[in-house]
Amino acid sequence: MLRRDIKDYHFRADAHTGLTMRWGKTLHDNPSWAPVPELADLSISNHCSKECAYCYRESARNNDFLSVNDYCKVLDAMRHPEYGNVFQVAIGGGEPLEHPDFVKIIDATLERGIVPNFTTNGIFLTEDVCRAIQGKVGAVALSVTSVTELQEEKIAMLRKYTIRTNIHYVLSAKNIEEAIEIVSGKYEAHFAGVNAIIFLTYKPAGRGTKEDALRRGEQLDRFVKMVNAHQNKGLKIGFDACFVPNLLHAGFGRPELVDVCEAGYFSVYVDHKMNVSPCSFSGGRDAWSLKEYDFYDIWVNMFKGYRNRQQNRCEHNDCVAHEVCRGCCPYYPQITTCYDN
Ligand SMILES: C[S@@+](CC[C@H](N)C(=O)[O-])C[C@H]1O[C@@H](n2cnc3c(N)ncnc32)[C@H](O)[C@@H]1O
Repeated sequence: MLRRDIKDYHFRADAHTGLTMRWGKTLHDNPSWAPVPELADLSISNHCSKECAYCYRESARNNDFLSVNDYCKVLDAMRHPEYGNVFQVAIGGGEPLEHPDFVKIIDATLERGIVPNFTTNGIFLTEDVCRAIQGKVGAVALSVTSVTELQEEKIAMLRKYTIRTNIHYVLSAKNIEEAIEIVSGKYEAHFAGVNAIIFLTYKPAGRGTKEDALRRGEQLDRFVKMVNAHQNKGLKIGFDACFVPNLLHAGFGRPELVDVCEAGYFSVYVDHKMNVSPCSFSGGRDAWSLKEYDFYDIWVNMFKGYRNRQQNRCEHNDCVAHEVCRGCCPYYPQITTCYDN
């Protein structure tokens, strides 16, 4: 169990279950940010031969990889001189499994006491890969935009090696009807062996087009209603932080128990060129290079302006979540559907 108590910031994290907890001065307070990020989202390449038509990173067959050496430099830069390192990393790209040194990257992460997780299109997932990473990773996420893309044989393979598997479902205006069916339990059998399905908000970024972004309206209302009714179903469901304002505004759950956008407060993104920014969707905004600056100079000082701007941008004074929600996404305001964008 990782225990971190730094002044009014308290954090516990269990590498085995992935369970994390944080509190502030007392158990009833939320700390405003973490002196050491809890999670780092790391892109280890921008190379991907699948070349999805909606990829926000515009990844392609470009052999643009972060070297293992530079990857280690990123991890070591994130180790705070007094308080230790991030608890976990979410490795992405590009396609992580096309990185020539992928297993070395997993091992280098573990050697530093950090939990590695990664997200993949699954194409290059083999028995050899599963054997090499068995017992080493927190979870693997397989990305899809439709139930028809679920690779059930890959899910079964991961299960055989007892590797916790999530499905990352990119939720857009195109597939929201299917998402409603998923939440209603229609495809439960297809998700056998899956830990949870996480809905990722579609971003109109890179090759992602504006037309496919989620819109306020009857379909989104129906989706949130199904989520609210879901509680006792077998398949666990979750959301990326970008979707949280939409859920909270629609009256989902108890706002004080829901994690709002953590980017730049509790989590950080480092791209394959070693640029540090609050999240992977900043598109070069609020970004500083590790080749020029010390990581904690960026995290503590350079991010200060962003954090001040983002503390609470919620303009809905009457919303039940007004006090806790950060409000509109600074990078893609149109994805925060409770706003008139
Ligand atoms: C860029 S991919 C890189 C990792 C890996 N190649 C994969 O397919 O999971 C990381 C995640 O971003 C998601 N993604 C790609 N384009 C997106 C977009 N326009 N909006 C939201 N998520 C997107 C993918 O589905 C995947 O879950």
